Amino acid sequence: MEDFTTLTTDVLVIGAGGAGLRAAIEAAASGARVDIVCKSLLGKAHTVMAEGGIAAALGNVDSEDNWQVHFQDTMRGGQMINNWRMAQLHAQESPDRVYELETYGALFDRTPDGRVMQRAFGAHTYKRLCHVGDRTGLEMIRSLQDRVVQLGITVHMEWTLTRLLKEGERVVGAFGYNRVDGSFVAFRAKAVILATGGWGRIYKVTSNSWEGTGDGVGMGFEAGAEVLDPEMVQFHPTGMVWPPGVRGILVTEAVRGEGGYLKNSENKRFMLEYDPKKKELSSRDVVARSIYKEVEAGRGTPHGGAWLDVTHLGAETIKKKLPSMYEQFLRLADIDITKASMEVAPTIHYAMGGLRVEPETGETTLPGLFAAGEVAAGLHGSNRLGGNSLSDLLVFGRRAGGAAGAYARNIRLGRLDERLINQEQQTLLLPFSGEGTENPYLLQQALQQAMQDGAGLARDEKGLKGCLNTVLELRQRAARIHAPGSRRYNPGWHTARDLRFMLTIAECIVRAAIERRESRGAHWRLDYLEKDPALGKVNFIAYSDAGTVKLKQRPVPQMPPELAGLFDDAASPGALKSSSTAAPEAKRIPA
Ligand code: FUM
Repeated sequence: MEDFTTLTTDVLVIGAGGAGLRAAIEAAASGARVDIVCKSLLGKAHTVMAEGGIAAALGNVDSEDNWQVHFQDTMRGGQMINNWRMAQLHAQESPDRVYELETYGALFDRTPDGRVMQRAFGAHTYKRLCHVGDRTGLEMIRSLQDRVVQLGITVHMEWTLTRLLKEGERVVGAFGYNRVDGSFVAFRAKAVILATGGWGRIYKVTSNSWEGTGDGVGMGFEAGAEVLDPEMVQFHPTGMVWPPGVRGILVTEAVRGEGGYLKNSENKRFMLEYDPKKKELSSRDVVARSIYKEVEAGRGTPHGGAWLDVTHLGAETIKKKLPSMYEQFLRLADIDITKASMEVAPTIHYAMGGLRVEPETGETTLPGLFAAGEVAAGLHGSNRLGGNSLSDLLVFGRRAGGAAGAYARNIRLGRLDERLINQEQQTLLLPFSGEGTENPYLLQQALQQAMQDGAGLARDEKGLKGCLNTVLELRQRAARIHAPGSRRYNPGWHTARDLRFMLTIAECIVRAAIERRESRGAHWRLDYLEKDPALGKVNFIAYSDAGTVKLKQRPVPQMPPELAGLFDDAASPGALKSSSTAAPEAKRIPA
């Protein structure tokens, strides 16, 4: 076995996006020694891609808003397979988390009388999104990062952790490597918090940057944690389309929140037909499908999308409310959005699925292992509402940090299992062994293409099964990957490693998508267009059985009567019929 550095801490936080930073702050506040590890640089997180705002029922613009309405919107958006308790905690605690962020230095846009400004967003009943222009995620990361630095929390940048270390069932640390020189590192920790974000890079067209390879879910799955609802993958309706090099980059929902129109090639506002009530501010699953249907019907833009038009808002408003979008289109596409429409199409943005956690603490199904943010699942059900991820990160990052800190206070450090470390070293070094011939980039591309085509926005049994075969074949080929060069900052080697988790998660997604024989939220089956009430009562769980992906069902947690009573038409989960997000769609794609 090769030498490695061992560091010891109370709480190890893996990931430095909004959830990781907020968790670290809370764990440190509880008196724990905290170490944060991120595979990129501090501040470079997918959190910044939630541009349009943080959803919190402050009622500053629409005074009727309250946590109950936010709770209902979230449950309806997720089509009732959400964990109700997470949705309740999230709606109740988001306002405090926003005000707390101000104490860390965040500067929100203000109402004329000086309160935090709120804007409209898809499927939120009221104007609820607290924002900083169209750079809210960036401001959130900036202020959390400042707080982490003030608290003196240690951050290890450009380290990738690849294996959770266990003593019996308890997670007692993690192992990985320093990306810069390839040297090995191990952490001994009383508690570990996964906050590594999502897995958008499994798909070809995505708003996620290179970090979004599902590391936390992959590590958790391999260690024996359960993965909830992996089939639920969100297409944000509006990503850039042209030129090809920018395809997938996010065009914030704030564009529609501020009054932007979606139009087809015939200059018609097609959302008036698909959702006459909410129009462009319908939920993301509905808007993404509507764009897809327009393109399929031959009414798409030249590069296969829709037009997003804000010219009617006037140049001053556009530059004030949407400054990043103005710059983005000017610099990347040579389009002045005060004068011309943006060309947009759906882009993979978010994973509703992830590790199953306890609502109150974020503890996974493994003792000592906590998860928060996109790596965890349950809050958003089958479709997340825009703005609910930033509030999710704050609410559940804080909860996981507090719970991990408390757990660490009452437990001794565990023992690191050298056998596991040795095994992981061998796995990591395999691409250098010289026996393999497979190119990691080509395998990654093949996976991304297969997932885009077979497990994308519109799914059916044939496509999903074909995709599964490709994923299984790629898993075999991945065992023969070759990475030329040394271990010093070697992107080919990093890609080879990323593929291990990407392929496992892809298999979880596809297997669950095959089994969910209905359409619900982001999961749209062309061969099962309706909801199945029986499937509205279950979540799918993927788990590892000696390394093999297995699937089981778990009942959706039952809401207590006082909360169920908030839904006039949903006495039992899955029975929801008349919500706007679940509205029957006026159009069907031809078979
Ligand atoms: O469109 C956006 O600004 C994204 C927000 C989110 O994903 O919550």
